[in-house]
Amino acid sequence: MKNKKINIGIVGCGNIAEKYLEQINNYNNIQLIGLTDIDIERAKSFSSLYNCQVYESLDKMLSDVNIDLVVNLTIHHAHAEVIEQILSSGKHVYTEKPLAMNYKDAKRIIELSKKKNLRLSSAPITYMGEMQQTAYKNLTDGLLGKIRLVYAEINHDRIENWHPNPKPFFDVGVLWDVGIYALTVCTALMGSINRVSGYGKVIMPKRRTLDGEPFKVNTPDFILALLEMNNGALLRLTCNFYANDSKQDHGIEIHGDNGMLYLGSGHDFSSPLEFIEIGGEPSIVPPIRNGYDGTEYARGLEEIADAILNNKPHRASAEHAAHVIEVMEAIDNSVKTNESIDVYSDFTQPPLMDWAR
Ligand SMILES: NC(=O)c1ccc[n+]([C@@H]2O[C@H](COP(=O)([O-])OP(=O)(O)OC[C@H]3O[C@@H](n4cnc5c(N)ncnc54)[C@H](O)[C@@H]3O)[C@@H](O)[C@H]2O)c1
Repeated sequence: MKNKKINIGIVGCGNIAEKYLEQINNYNNIQLIGLTDIDIERAKSFSSLYNCQVYESLDKMLSDVNIDLVVNLTIHHAHAEVIEQILSSGKHVYTEKPLAMNYKDAKRIIELSKKKNLRLSSAPITYMGEMQQTAYKNLTDGLLGKIRLVYAEINHDRIENWHPNPKPFFDVGVLWDVGIYALTVCTALMGSINRVSGYGKVIMPKRRTLDGEPFKVNTPDFILALLEMNNGALLRLTCNFYANDSKQDHGIEIHGDNGMLYLGSGHDFSSPLEFIEIGGEPSIVPPIRNGYDGTEYARGLEEIADAILNNKPHRASAEHAAHVIEVMEAIDNSVKTNESIDVYSDFTQPPLMDWAR
């Protein structure tokens, strides 16, 4: 299988598509065949830059027998429907987060992928970064001993100040758009969650797009959640679309009986990893290999291509994505009812990357 490639098409040519298109060339087991978008001009402008074909609709892309896998980079609310359409056509799916906007849809899509014997893999894959894998390896080796407390921060600034189309992001809210990163990294590294209590509030309701158009925020742009993990640890998640230049940024502190491991960021692959032993001095943990500078989104594509070509399970499983969706739904319910909510789903933690073992 050494010289074989997985041929991909991309649906959704907006903001994040550019990153994927830039990064696909880093890997030789994926080949970009073509692009599509409901706004066809977007697909056209990228296709001239990246030398690939344009399909006038998703249906046309799905009828191309050359394409093995479709990458779904459409906007959150379109995901479930688009994924169902791709799977029904007989092609594998890699999707940007979230897999679906509720747990019921996520389960239905997973059933369809199983019935069709097709791969279904979902971002975020930021736990595959060099720093995050270095943390995972050290946790697996028992560096911290028993873990009892985790603080995860997502201070995601004000996206209307940089994203050309911010409203859908505020519609789904900070938890579903970016809280999902911290939840996915923490559960990948430490396993599943069984109970949640949440608090949410819109703290800055009046916003403006880059063009100066005012819009109102209705979904909480601040969420605080306490999550009970199956490993016995308590996880406190804070996320917001407000705090600017927070010193806590997107950091994750993992506290165990032997000390604390601090991930400078849940999603930057080269940010520092620090260890402080109880009573000791802080030290930087050297990365297992040099980190990609930022987030390499296309790493999830190379990973699933490798899994398909070598007939092994892919790491970014739909079951993991669905568990995180059940957790986020439970947080939303807890915010509404003021009650703690149980979570029932589970998943198999992704194994360390081959280079991190
Ligand atoms: N922008 C980021 O920094 C970022 C980072 C990581 C992940 N993501 C995820 O990527 C996805 C897309 O985000 P974005 O920032 O690129 O959004 P965007 O609004 O810039 O782009 C979305 C694109 O999808 C197209 N689209 C929407 N519905 C469609 C449909 N049914 N069929 C075909 N095309 C459709 C839109 O026309 C648009 O071009 C989201 O799920 C988001 O969570 C975004």
